[in-house]
Amino acid sequence: NQFCDAGFGYGEGEPICGTPSSSSSKLLIKGGTVVNAHQLEIADVYVEDGKIIAVKPTIRVGDDVLVIDATGKFVMPGGIDPHTHLAFEFMGTETIDDFFSGQAAALAGGTTMHIDFVIPVNGSLTAGVEAYEKKAQKSCMDYGFHMAITKWDENVSREMEIMVKDKGINSFKFFLAYKGSLMINDELLLEGLKKCKSLGALAMVHAENGDAVYEGQKRMIELGITGPEGHALSRPAVLEGEATARAIRLAGFVNTPLYVVHVMSIDAMEEIAKARKVGQKVVGEPVASGLVLDDSWLWNPDFKTAAKYVMSPPIRASGHNKALQAALSTGVLQLVGTDHCAFNSTQKALGIDDFRKIPNGVNGIEERMHLVWDTMVESGQISVTDYVRLTSTECARIFNIYPRKGAILPGSDADIIILNPNSSFEITSKSHHSRLDTNVYEGRRGKGKIEVTIAGGRVVWENNKLMVVPGSGKYIQTPPFNYLFNGIDKADARYLSSLQAPVKRAKSAT
Ligand code: URP
Ligand code: ZN
Ligand code: ZN
Ligand code: ZN
Repeated sequence: NQFCDAGFGYGEGEPICGTPSSSSSKLLIKGGTVVNAHQLEIADVYVEDGKIIAVKPTIRVGDDVLVIDATGKFVMPGGIDPHTHLAFEFMGTETIDDFFSGQAAALAGGTTMHIDFVIPVNGSLTAGVEAYEKKAQKSCMDYGFHMAITKWDENVSREMEIMVKDKGINSFKFFLAYKGSLMINDELLLEGLKKCKSLGALAMVHAENGDAVYEGQKRMIELGITGPEGHALSRPAVLEGEATARAIRLAGFVNTPLYVVHVMSIDAMEEIAKARKVGQKVVGEPVASGLVLDDSWLWNPDFKTAAKYVMSPPIRASGHNKALQAALSTGVLQLVGTDHCAFNSTQKALGIDDFRKIPNGVNGIEERMHLVWDTMVESGQISVTDYVRLTSTECARIFNIYPRKGAILPGSDADIIILNPNSSFEITSKSHHSRLDTNVYEGRRGKGKIEVTIAGGRVVWENNKLMVVPGSGKYIQTPPFNYLFNGIDKADARYLSSLQAPVKRAKSAT
């Protein structure tokens, strides 16, 4: 049909495209419980031309308006996934989900925006962002960019400024792992932290000690351990704890906020807790896989089954997941991502003889909203307003796009989901919308079902059908100096004044 590009190749499962159920640019969502991070109320939501116009009880409209009944259901801001990799070239291959298929999957699962990681091309940030702008042309939902910093020189430093000021990228990821490819050393991390601070950009870290991981991998190979379990054994939680602690301390030394991506272990989480307790501006992002899975799958004798769980840092032993859930519910960790980085069975088989060659990454962009609801709200660990904060609002605040995103308020973008708490979901690769032939959540069922997704004011998911249009997604610039930077200058001033006495002493000594 007109919205479908034959090249997108959805062989199995339900068709990805359809005709939008309404050409109406006016929508009224009636009678639902509208949930924001700050409050919950029964109200109608009126939408026009992609924006929320009004949120109040009993809105009356003409008959040119599409009315959706949400009685008994929750009306919430669409999910924002802070951590995805679509069309990502990594470990000798490219993720099977691109900006269309990954986003279509996201929409089917109630996520209406994601922030993806731009990888520089031969060290050039400008070339990197140009490549990602091309990849993202087929977008069917809104998206933003982070950028990875993989080397350091005057040029990179200058380009970071261009990214922040001209490209709307306010976050830079530093990889302390992946030795020989993306990994950087402490000297570079310090330069990067200083530059981020001067630009008001948020520094992000992949916290594993890459040198020690390399050592751990050699150890496993020497012992003849070449299967997927070798992945977990070679990079234990202590290496995540070490790198998390180091990054936090260096960010504290520079006095700039830090965002720790994919927090997978108690070890890393406790470092974040410790730093926050003494007032350091550190954000911790657990991902869906780390919250609900455990590493037992990596020991499955079937390579295809085990390999699909290989990601870094590894999914940990049972117990870490529950501790991460608790940390999320008590505010030690602040928002949930997925690290959606999809490689199919054929791609995973690149490492059939050697776990070091299994492309790292798991799915989650479609499953996150359901998993967090079931695991956190249904279990009674968090409230419905907390759910909105952890899946949407906090991400919008951190990346400085609140309340355009992350809220059901007049003036906000009409990215809205309707969740039925009395219905249920089931996850299987047979019906999911990712291009993956597998799913790390295969067979999982739970309570709560996202029945409707509205993106940019259009119904894109309803009655288990997707109605998505390539090219309809917009790039969302993320401005620098988010709320975490409040007070940074005062702390700097305090530090400088504490140096007055030693400076005086040094001067009088000469
Ligand atoms: O295994 C993972 N996490 N793959 C994606 C790259 C990254 O480190 O985020
Ligand atoms: Zn179609
Ligand atoms: Zn990472
Ligand atoms: Zn990632």
